[in-house]
Amino acid sequence: MVKINKVVKELDPYIPGRSIKEIADEYGLNPDKIIKMGSNENPLGTSPRAVDAINEESKSMYRYPEVGLKELTSAVASYSGVSSSQVILGGDGADEILDDLGKTLIEPGDEFIVPIPSYMYYEFTLKIHGGIPVYARWDLPENILNVKSVLDAITPRTRIIFLCTPNNPTGAIINKEDIETILKSTDALVVVDEAYFEFSKVNNVDLLSQYDNLFILRTFSKILGLAGMRIGYGLGNPEFIEYMKRVKPVFSLTRLSQVASIASINDVEYIEKSTTLSIESREYLYKELSSIPQIDVFESKANYLLVDIRKTGMKSRTLSEELLKNGVIVRDCRSFRGLDDYWIRVSVGTLEEDKRFINILKEIIG
Ligand SMILES: Cc1ncc(COP(=O)(O)O)c(C=O)c1O
Repeated sequence: MVKINKVVKELDPYIPGRSIKEIADEYGLNPDKIIKMGSNENPLGTSPRAVDAINEESKSMYRYPEVGLKELTSAVASYSGVSSSQVILGGDGADEILDDLGKTLIEPGDEFIVPIPSYMYYEFTLKIHGGIPVYARWDLPENILNVKSVLDAITPRTRIIFLCTPNNPTGAIINKEDIETILKSTDALVVVDEAYFEFSKVNNVDLLSQYDNLFILRTFSKILGLAGMRIGYGLGNPEFIEYMKRVKPVFSLTRLSQVASIASINDVEYIEKSTTLSIESREYLYKELSSIPQIDVFESKANYLLVDIRKTGMKSRTLSEELLKNGVIVRDCRSFRGLDDYWIRVSVGTLEEDKRFINILKEIIG
């Protein structure tokens, strides 16, 4: 056997949400009957304009993609209220941008701070670059970022601090004042992950002009309905963005992902409809889940809800398995560092899907 990189040998695999096909095959279910509420996608589906754009562009698939990305960069800049020089695009979604951040900033032994529980891909990716995770915390059940734990975790080796708002999986936002406190306390890059900002209707773009060490991470996978096309973006200081562009994969934004993302981000009607549907669904699910005595659900500003199921007497593994047998996929949160065996995360569905889920859940927990 060849000699494998030590970090890779010791790496814990990333555990993604499960797909409809996988569950249909495993449980012998009809894929059309499965409800997917496990990966925080857009229940409305893809923008019809994106589908048309992909069909049209598919004739050019034999050509390499454009690398200048001018049109998409400019569309993202105007959607976000920044200039094009502040934008970087990623072709494996926001996850690619995380990898680009690792390449740009991390040398073996450098530290990055992650308040837990939060998105697990930060740790997975940066470890590959030799980064060492230092954990801060979200206080539960209050569901607020413990700012002191972040400040206490800063050392001279800190290169990146991740602040996810709304936080995945807890759904809460981080106050702007708290973000500023952290920005002022460090030279490290503060990555404010706004993958779900549209559902909360707040963002931190206004801080970009004041803080050179702020980087905002976003994605086309959620409200923009393109999780399967893999497009993400980051907003930051133009000089820093230039360094990131040096290391990013040259052709990772395919022809199809470029046209699809331009079409989606310009489809104002689709974005509005998606936001309304997702928020309605979130509020419906919150109300219904809150009324079940064995369930504790957290308020959320995103398109998912974190649910504490310990009073059902079931572990998340058992409950999510029972739901799967009934054709409902939710996220078993065991793989989130900082959560124990009693949490699931439920993404918004269509109202019809939500109702089916609630009925099935009630049947299972009795
Ligand atoms: C908080 C957060 N950040 C980033 C991402 C990555 O998104 P993408 O699909 O663009 O890679 C996700 C995906 O679930 C997420 O939840």
